[in-house]
Amino acid sequence: MYRSHNNGSLRTSDINSEVTLSGWVQKSRDKGFMIWIDLRDRYGITQLIFDEERTPAPIMEQARTLGREFVIQIKGTVIERASKNPNIPTGDIEILVNKLTILNTAITPPFTIEDTTDGGEDLRMKYRYLDIRRNPVKDSLIFRHKVTMEVRKYLSNQEFIEVETPYLIKSTPEGARDFVVPSRMNEGQFYALPQSPQTFKQLLMVGGMDKYFQIVKCFRDEDLRADRQPEFTQIDCEMAFVEQEDILATFEGLTRHLLKEVNGVEIDKFPRMLYDDAMRLYGNDKPDIRFGMEFGELNTVAQHKEFNVFNNAELVVGIAVPGGNSYTRKEIDKLIDWVKRPQVGALGMVYARCNDDGSYKSSVDKFYDQEDLAKWAEVTGAKPGDLICVLSGDVNKVRTQLSALRMELAERLGLRDPKVFAPLWVIDFPLLELDEETGHYHAMHHPFTSPKPEQIKLLATDPGAVKANAYDLVLNGNEIGGGSIRIHDKETQALMFDYLGFTPEEAQAQFGFLMDAFQYGAPPHGGLAFGLDRLVAILGGQETIRDYIAFPKNNNGRDVMIDAPAAIDEEQLKELHLRLNA
Ligand code: AMO
Repeated sequence: MYRSHNNGSLRTSDINSEVTLSGWVQKSRDKGFMIWIDLRDRYGITQLIFDEERTPAPIMEQARTLGREFVIQIKGTVIERASKNPNIPTGDIEILVNKLTILNTAITPPFTIEDTTDGGEDLRMKYRYLDIRRNPVKDSLIFRHKVTMEVRKYLSNQEFIEVETPYLIKSTPEGARDFVVPSRMNEGQFYALPQSPQTFKQLLMVGGMDKYFQIVKCFRDEDLRADRQPEFTQIDCEMAFVEQEDILATFEGLTRHLLKEVNGVEIDKFPRMLYDDAMRLYGNDKPDIRFGMEFGELNTVAQHKEFNVFNNAELVVGIAVPGGNSYTRKEIDKLIDWVKRPQVGALGMVYARCNDDGSYKSSVDKFYDQEDLAKWAEVTGAKPGDLICVLSGDVNKVRTQLSALRMELAERLGLRDPKVFAPLWVIDFPLLELDEETGHYHAMHHPFTSPKPEQIKLLATDPGAVKANAYDLVLNGNEIGGGSIRIHDKETQALMFDYLGFTPEEAQAQFGFLMDAFQYGAPPHGGLAFGLDRLVAILGGQETIRDYIAFPKNNNGRDVMIDAPAAIDEEQLKELHLRLNA
C-alpha cells in the first residue's frame, strides 16, 4: 500500500495515528538538528518532520538527500505542530517520520512549482506536466471536470442521450478551414476532421434520437486567439419537435444550473437582444452588458455643420466614458493613438469633455457650440464629469472600432468584474453575410440554418435582409454558444445551397446524404453548441481558454511539448500516396 491518506486529509483528530503518505517533495528546510519537508500531492500539503532526538540517524541522513520534486513514501506518526499554519487545512499537524522510501529521484525542474512561478509561458508549455502540478493549472482542470459533470448530470436528467459521432468524416462547413487526414486505403482521398458534429446530430434527429448531446472535440484550422484553439470541445446538443423557444428555455436552464452549482450565482430570466440592436447599441454581436456605455448615433445632431469628416461619414457614433473628464490631454492623446493602431484602425477620434458645471469643451469647438454638444451628451447619455468619444466612417467598420474602444475603456475602468455574470441571448441573426471581397453571400451560421419561414421569399430580392431562427448565448462579452432551428426538408435545403452558390451537382456530392435523409421523414429540429473551453474559462473568471485545457497548442498551433506537427518519413508518405514538393 503506497498510502493510507492523501496529503490534504489529516487533522488534529488523527493525532497519534500511524500513517503512510506518498507524494512529491515541495520543499525542505534543514536546520541541522531538525528537517521539515512539505509533501505534496493533488489534495494538498502535509508537513513532515525529522528530528535528531526522535528520528533514527540513517533516516535523518536519507532525508538530507531529498531534492525538490523527488517522489517519496513515508511512514510515521501524526503529531500536533508546535507552530501551526492557519493557511492550509493540515496546518495543525505534522508527521514524525520513522520510515522513508525514495520512490523516484527528480532533476531540478526548469521552473518553480509554486502558485506564482518563475517560468514563462513557453517553458511552462514545454513542460506542461510540471505546470499541471501547480495549483492554478491543477485547480482549473478540476474546475473543468466539475462543470463537465454538472452538464452531463443536468442533460441526462432532462432525458438527453450522449451519442458519439465519428471524427474521420467529410467537410462540415462552419466557416473555418478543415484539418484533413489522407487515406491510405483510398489513394488521393482525404477525410476531414469535424469542425462540429453538425450533420451527424441532424441525422440522429432523423434517426429518432430526439434529445442528443455530446461533449466532443471539434477541429478548426483558423488563426488562434486567447479564446480559440485549433482543437476545442463543444457541448453539442440537438432536439427534435422543438421551436426556438424550447431550445432557449432548455439551455438557459442548463446555464442557470451551472451558474448556481458552480458559482453560487442565481440569475433569473436571461435578457434577449435582437442582433440588429446589439450591433447598433454595442457595435458587436456579443455585447458585454455588465456595464452601460451604449452607443449613441450622432448623425442627426452632428452632420449639419461645416465639419466634413462627419458630414461625409456613413455613421457618426459616440460613447460616454464615465468619469472620463478627469483624463489629462496627454491621456486622451494616448487614447487617440490607441484607436489609430492598425488593430483598431480608426482614422482619428473626436472628443468632448463634460465639465462639472454643465459646460462642454470639445476637440471640434470650431464647428460645434454648447447647444450642439449638449445634444451629443443627451444622445450618448453623458453626465457632467464624463468624456464623450466619437468615431465616424463606414457603418460596419466604425461600429467595430468603437466596440473595441468601449471594451478597452471598460477594462481600464475595472467595469469587467469576472465575478459578475451577465448572460444574454442574441437572437434573429441574419441568415446570410456578404463577403465584401468576393461579393458573394455565405451562411452566417451554417448552411443548415433555417430562414424565418415568412422571410424565405425575401431571399430572391434582398438576401442580406433575411433573418434566421439563429441565436447565440453570450456571457460577459464572450460567445459561449450558438445554434439555430434547422431546415428539415430537401427543397428548402437545396434552395439554400443554390443561394450559397453551389451547383445542384456540388450540393448533391457534398451534402446529398443529408438531403436524402430529409426525404425519409425528418422531424422539425434545432439545437445549439456551447464552447466548453470558453464556458469553463468564463465561469472560472478568465477569458483565456488555454489554462483550462490540459495540453493546449501555442499561438502557432504547435504542441511544443511533443513537438507537433512534425514531418513524417518517406515510407509513411509513400503509403499515404503523398509527395512533398522539393
Ligand atoms: P459555432 O461555430 O458557433 O456553432 O460553435 C459553437 C461554439 O463553439 C465555440 N468555439 C470555439 N471555442 C474554442 N476554439 C475555437 N476555435 C472555437 N470555435 C467555436 C464557441 C461557439 O459559440 N454546429 C454549430 C452549433 C449548432 O448550430 O448547433 C456550431 O459549431 O463558444
